[in-house]
Amino acid sequence: MCPTTKNPTKNLAIESLFNPKTVAVLGASRNAGKIGYKVCENIVNGGYEGKLYPVNPNGGEVLGHKIYENIASINDEIDLAILTVPAKFVMNSVKECVSHGKVKNLAIITSGFAEIGNEEEEEEIVRVAREGGIRVLGPNIFGVYSAKAKLNSTFAAGEIPAGNVAIITQSGAIGIAMIGKTKVENIGLSTIISCGNKADIDDNDLLEYLATDDSTHAIMMYIEGIQNGDKLVPLLKKLSKAKPLVVIKSGRSERGAQAAQSHTASLAGSDEVFDAVAKQCGIIRADSLEEGLQWCKYLVTSPPLKGKECVIITNGGGVGVMGTDACEKYGIPMYDDQKELEKAFKSVCPDFGSLKNPVDITGGATPEDYDHCLDAALNNDKIHSVICLGCETAVLTGSSFKSIVQKQTAQYRNKKPLVFSLVGGEEMENAIRELRREDAPIYNDVEPAVACLGTLYSYTNFKNTKEQTLVDPPVDIPAIKEIIAKVKADNRTFLLTEEAQAVMKAADIAVPQNRVESSADAAAKAATEIGYPVVMKIVSKDIIHKSDAGGLALNLKNEAEVKAAYNQIMTNCKKHMPNADLKGVEVVEMVDIDVETIVSARRDNSFGPTVMFGLGGIYVEVLKDITFRAFPLSEKEILEMIESIKSYQLLKGARGKNPKDITAAVDAIAKVGKILKEIPEITDVELNPIILNDEGKGVRAVDVRILLAE
Ligand code: COA
Repeated sequence: MCPTTKNPTKNLAIESLFNPKTVAVLGASRNAGKIGYKVCENIVNGGYEGKLYPVNPNGGEVLGHKIYENIASINDEIDLAILTVPAKFVMNSVKECVSHGKVKNLAIITSGFAEIGNEEEEEEIVRVAREGGIRVLGPNIFGVYSAKAKLNSTFAAGEIPAGNVAIITQSGAIGIAMIGKTKVENIGLSTIISCGNKADIDDNDLLEYLATDDSTHAIMMYIEGIQNGDKLVPLLKKLSKAKPLVVIKSGRSERGAQAAQSHTASLAGSDEVFDAVAKQCGIIRADSLEEGLQWCKYLVTSPPLKGKECVIITNGGGVGVMGTDACEKYGIPMYDDQKELEKAFKSVCPDFGSLKNPVDITGGATPEDYDHCLDAALNNDKIHSVICLGCETAVLTGSSFKSIVQKQTAQYRNKKPLVFSLVGGEEMENAIRELRREDAPIYNDVEPAVACLGTLYSYTNFKNTKEQTLVDPPVDIPAIKEIIAKVKADNRTFLLTEEAQAVMKAADIAVPQNRVESSADAAAKAATEIGYPVVMKIVSKDIIHKSDAGGLALNLKNEAEVKAAYNQIMTNCKKHMPNADLKGVEVVEMVDIDVETIVSARRDNSFGPTVMFGLGGIYVEVLKDITFRAFPLSEKEILEMIESIKSYQLLKGARGKNPKDITAAVDAIAKVGKILKEIPEITDVELNPIILNDEGKGVRAVDVRILLAE
């Protein structure tokens, strides 16, 4: 359900949606209990300075504004028309807006369309609107809030604080709840917008607008699913360089394509792919609304990070250790130049304290001791961020420490990123609550404080990465297309071994020497020519998991073993699947297996072409040491992908073994990605295992599986 891609006039600017000079409310009601009244009330109470045109056939007046009987009687341009009429009247209202001739945007609050299976009417509404040059937000939304227009056209309760965080939410109910939470947390919004059924205007449109909106300094998104993800990836990468993007995506437990035929498909649960693509695009992923909002608040209020070195100041060893652990988790490097630390803190730390990082000013530390220590950190150019941790003691209480937090926050606000975490009882909690209301970066536990600072590190790191050229390896795409055409003509959705190997040849990815034979004698002859030892595998379009069917024999050292294995494989497979079409047996050079890896590409439902790399062979499902990325990628990104798996040390040459050919692995990933991207019929290319030879000696794709769309 996303007619947007079909629409020829997609690129109409949506600026007027966020900064309308005129707003009409169709379905404006005089009845204070109705949504059509609440929307008008919020517009009026929110201080909207443009023109408001309430519309209702009953006429009259609402909140001091004349109600127009129909939109035709409004002799003005309408930048934004908000629909709060029941679903059965929506189509007619849209037609009236089109006939008016000067309506630019529609925000349809009304529910009762695609979300309840009424896709057809929704598509028709969008078609009619778009033909009339009107963009559509919704249907099924709570309205639009835009600080720059002082426009609150939502039906949320009460006022929305203005500020620099933009919120896009797929769920209207969560959006309305977030409005309440932002007020409690004193987070100002530049806009909050729900895109409901995304019938026309979608996340891509909104992000494109927000990327260039000067009043938005950070964006928070709540999403459940992604549409047009392949187009979203480059946009997200660009946006995350301009401003931080915090995303909460629900549905972590959802696993896509469990019953799929390839390993990659069953491993590529939608959440794993989302998580990896989010990192690739510089998205900061939050687990909860609370976390997301806190992070956004920190990101828009903190000064920029100008270096990496972080110092923790604490009055307790325990919280210091917790802070250190959290720094590691959130990628914050701890400053460890001992000489400099001593120089900076010797005069402000008691003799029995610790001048190592965390700097421990001990349990007797008073607010004044903290003050001096924070000053020392603030004025030191070698320190770029500070985490101030404290446990409540008789000499460090909420009320006694409050003024120091206020003073240091004001002092640091424009200089250096700082977070406080104070742990204690009721008095401390009360002080924290009050300080938070004043926008001090203070938390009542260690991890939330460090996590906030961590988001600033993630954003800064991503922002500072240089743009790289995308890979375009040489692959004979026309030759592969020819092979695919033959497979399709044969009504198959998978490639036979020899076809898959021909694809590898066209991509110049080495496979072990092999021959397909249909008798024990011929197999033995082939094995002698290839050279012992050999591996034998069943060749059958009906048998996908060869070892389960007894269709695999390894390490065959002579003619007799090959002949026996041939007969055994045939017997096993006939027994396993009596009607299977058995073409024969593939005799393959036995590759010296040191480290088995998996390289694959598949078309993800959300993000389009994605590639996967990890530890392969029998370990792939057990250890799940794998990683995904949306394709295309730069060489550097592919290398980082390989480096990100837990077993990377094995590839670097652990325990005296030679390092593996990582360059050839990068090349193989680039090539499978390109094959998938260029040939739309292919859904999966899986090289598992692919053996990485020693450095400079290339790879061998031992098993190649290629699947086509049904
Ligand atoms: N032009 C202008 N006004 C019209 C109209 C038209 N063509 N046709 C009807 N109206 C007026 C009605 O006269 C009524 O005004 P009144 O109170 O003066 O009689 C007003 O529109 C509303 O119609 P009503 O039948 O009273 O509906 P309602 O207010 O109970 O419900 C919706 C309307 C849109 C709120 C409801 O259908 C709906 O969709 N609710 C769910 C909204 C939602 O949850 N959205 C998602 C949020 S995340």
